[in-house]
Amino acid sequence: MSTESLFRPFSLKSLNIKNRIVMAPMTRSFSPNGIPGENVAAYYRKRAEGEVGLILSEGTVIDRVSSSNDANVPHFYGAESLAGWQNVINEVHAGGGQMGPQIWHMGVMYNHHSGWVPPQPFEGPSEFNNPDLKNGVAMTEKDIEDTIIAYGKAAADAKRLGFDTVEIHGAHGYLIDQFFWEGTNNRTDAWGGKTLAERTRFGAEVVKEVRRQVGEDFAVIIRLSQFKPSAYDFKLAGTPQEMEAWLNPLVDAGADILHCSQRRFWEPEFEGSDLNFAGWAKKLTGKATITVGSVGLSGDFFGAFRGENSEATSLDELTRRMERGDFDLVAVGRPILADPSWVKKIKDNRTSELKGFSKEALGELILE
Ligand SMILES: Cc1cc2nc3c(=O)[nH]c(=O)nc-3n(C[C@H](O)[C@H](O)[C@H](O)COP(=O)(O)O)c2cc1C
Repeated sequence: MSTESLFRPFSLKSLNIKNRIVMAPMTRSFSPNGIPGENVAAYYRKRAEGEVGLILSEGTVIDRVSSSNDANVPHFYGAESLAGWQNVINEVHAGGGQMGPQIWHMGVMYNHHSGWVPPQPFEGPSEFNNPDLKNGVAMTEKDIEDTIIAYGKAAADAKRLGFDTVEIHGAHGYLIDQFFWEGTNNRTDAWGGKTLAERTRFGAEVVKEVRRQVGEDFAVIIRLSQFKPSAYDFKLAGTPQEMEAWLNPLVDAGADILHCSQRRFWEPEFEGSDLNFAGWAKKLTGKATITVGSVGLSGDFFGAFRGENSEATSLDELTRRMERGDFDLVAVGRPILADPSWVKKIKDNRTSELKGFSKEALGELILE
């Protein structure tokens, strides 16, 4: 099947992308003291030169004392870290790509295996990372207000440094998702509530502040997931109606693109239709969407964290959905982490050169 549908350009506000392929945000932990160095810039530039349309950075944390559980995860605040990011975006532009940072607050986390812990306790809507792990403090009204401002500041800095977009990390059980989920949001004030729509307020306020900071013409992406790392098959929205009540406030707040994270893009979201999460999100909101999850690979990314290898697989099902108009963009994670030329190889139909994924690829910033 032709992959031509993946190689049409895409434009939206500040984005002018040469194809539909997005590098998925992937934490690499190669930024000591939160500062991305030359090696990180070279890694992203190689992906731009490899014709990735849009690069989303690894999660990079906002200016809150306990927004991270890992000293090697990059910061998106402070002069040295921002100078590092300035170099990253300059290199990516020189390599012909476009890029947005994924701005991140981890919320209440488990302690990192390195033994490093932030100087203050983790913070979230409650003390919980998931119903079985209590490891932080519930945020006060002032904490919440300051955190929303910190997201906005990071977005303003992204625009000021010359990035082409910004992605808010609202997925995978981190801070914003901890507010969405009743398993972690047991608040009885206006930041909690019995319905998902009520618990969406924090996420919507973050999007609003980001929009206020970057203006109308800058593309804002929010990443969302139904699943949690502590509950793979969990569905935050159990029906299309619930999904609408979750997504619409985020769209009304100013999100332009919904990045719909799944482990496997081909899995239907609700019974009675083969539409996936990105398919439903586009249908319900009319907004542009990004799909993701095991594109071109046999195994999913949680398997990769357990050390399982994946084989390269066909893109036929992906292109079928793309041609049907289910989504606008396709994020690809591990294949591009392991091979900066993955996109070029697909474009040139060099499928015999596609490698699959093994866990060794996680140990370095691969440049070839
Ligand atoms: C090493 C690694 C780090 C990741 N870090 C992040 C992250 O910082 N932010 C995020 O939203 N997702 C993160 N993810 C999830 C990926 O963005 C992507 O959704 C997932 O790998 C599925 O895509 P794939 O099957 O093409 O790899 C990470 C995945 C991997 C493999």
